[in-house]
Amino acid sequence: MKGKHILVGVTGSIAAYKTATLVRALVRKGAEVKVVMTDKAKEFITPLTLATLAKNPVLVDFFDPTDGRWNSHVSLGEWSDLYLIAPATANTLAKMADGVADNLVCTTYLSAKCPVWVAPAMDLDMYRHAATQRTLERLRQDGVHIIEPTDGELASGLVGKGRMEEPERIADAVEAFFAQGQPLSGKTVLITAGPTYEKIDPVRFIGNYSSGKMGFCLAEACANRGARVELISGPTALSPQHPAIHLTRIESADEMLQAAQAIFPKADICIMSAAVADFKPVSTAASKIKRKDSRLQLELQPNPDIAATLAKLKRPGQITVGFALETDHEETNALDKMARKQLDYIVLNSLKNANSCFGYDTNMVTIYDNKGGKTAYTLKSKAEVAEDILNTLLK
Ligand code: CTP
Repeated sequence: MKGKHILVGVTGSIAAYKTATLVRALVRKGAEVKVVMTDKAKEFITPLTLATLAKNPVLVDFFDPTDGRWNSHVSLGEWSDLYLIAPATANTLAKMADGVADNLVCTTYLSAKCPVWVAPAMDLDMYRHAATQRTLERLRQDGVHIIEPTDGELASGLVGKGRMEEPERIADAVEAFFAQGQPLSGKTVLITAGPTYEKIDPVRFIGNYSSGKMGFCLAEACANRGARVELISGPTALSPQHPAIHLTRIESADEMLQAAQAIFPKADICIMSAAVADFKPVSTAASKIKRKDSRLQLELQPNPDIAATLAKLKRPGQITVGFALETDHEETNALDKMARKQLDYIVLNSLKNANSCFGYDTNMVTIYDNKGGKTAYTLKSKAEVAEDILNTLLK
C-alpha cells in the first residue's frame, strides 16, 4: 500500500482501542495514515496515541483552538484514497445516512471523493434494530462499503453480532482492495539475491562482489505490482522498503538452498539473481587460522546448484528466471545455462560491458526465453532493468 493515503475516522465506541492496532497495521503495510476523531472518541483513546502511531497529527475540531487554523474537511477528503471509519457507532452511521455535518468525521464523509468504508461496532440489539439495519442499507445504496461486525462477546457482557472486525483483518482487506487489478496481485514471487559467503574459519570467507542491488530492485518492482515477495538474500547492506517483501537473510549457499526449497512450492515465479559461490571449503576451521610463512592450501568442494535443484521440484505453470554472468562466449553460455537449469528465461549480463553487473547501479542485459526469443537492452538503472524483466514475464 506504499503511497496510499488512508484517512481513519474514529467515533465513540469501546472498540476505539482497537483502532491503535489498525493504524499501526496500515502504516506497517506502507500506507500514509491520517486520523480524524469525534469528541466522544477521545474518551476511549487519546489523540496522542493515534498521532504517534499514524506519524501524523490527529484532527478533532473544525479549527485549531490555539491558533484558529482551519482543519479543512475538503482537503482531507481530497487527500484520501480511502476513508475508513472504524469503529463506526450507530449514531455516526445514522448521521452519515442523513447527511448531518456536525463534526469533522461527518463533514469529511460528505466531502470525500474516495471510497468510504465503515466498520460498525455496537451492542447486538442496537445492531439488529430495524433503524440500524435501515441506516446500513441506505449507506450501502450510497456506495459505502460495510465491514460486517463479527459475533462474539460484547462490552455489555452479552454475546452476539456487533463486535468490530479485528484490525488485522480490516487492514488485510484494505490491502487486498488496493492490490485488485494489479498484474501480480495474489501471486508469490521468490527472489534470490546478493552473494553467498562460504566460511573458511570464524573470521574469513569465500565470497564475491555482488551487492544484491539487482535482486532488491526486482523485489520492489514485483511488490509494486501487487505480488507478495519472498526475498532470500546473502549478506548485503540493503533493506527492502516495500512492506509486501519478506526478507530471509542467509549467509551460505547451503542456507540459501534450504530457504529456497521451503518457499519454492508456493511460489508462482522464481527469479534467481543471487551470485552463489560455486565452491565452499571442504571443512571450516573451528578457530582462526594463524598466519605462517609457508603456503596455505584450501580444499574446496562444489556448492549445490540452487537453480538446478529447484528445477527438479518445478510444477507446471511455475515460471523460473535465472541470471548468467559471463566474461566470454556470452550467448552460448547463457543459453546452455537456461537449458541445464530448465529455466523459462535467462538474463545475460556481461562483465565486458562497462558500468554493468557487480556493485554498479546500472546494468545492461539481454533477456532470452526458452522459446527462442531474445531482447537486448541498453545500459539502464537496475530499477529500470527490473521493470524490463517484469514486463517480459508479464507479456
Ligand atoms: N545459481 C544457483 N546456484 C549455484 C550457482 C548459480 O542457483 N550454485 C544460479 C544463479 O543464481 C543464476 C544462475 O544459476 O541465476 C547462473 O549463475 P552463474 O553463476 O552465472 O552460473 P553457474 O551455474 O555458477 O556457472 P559458471 O559459474 O560456470 O558460469
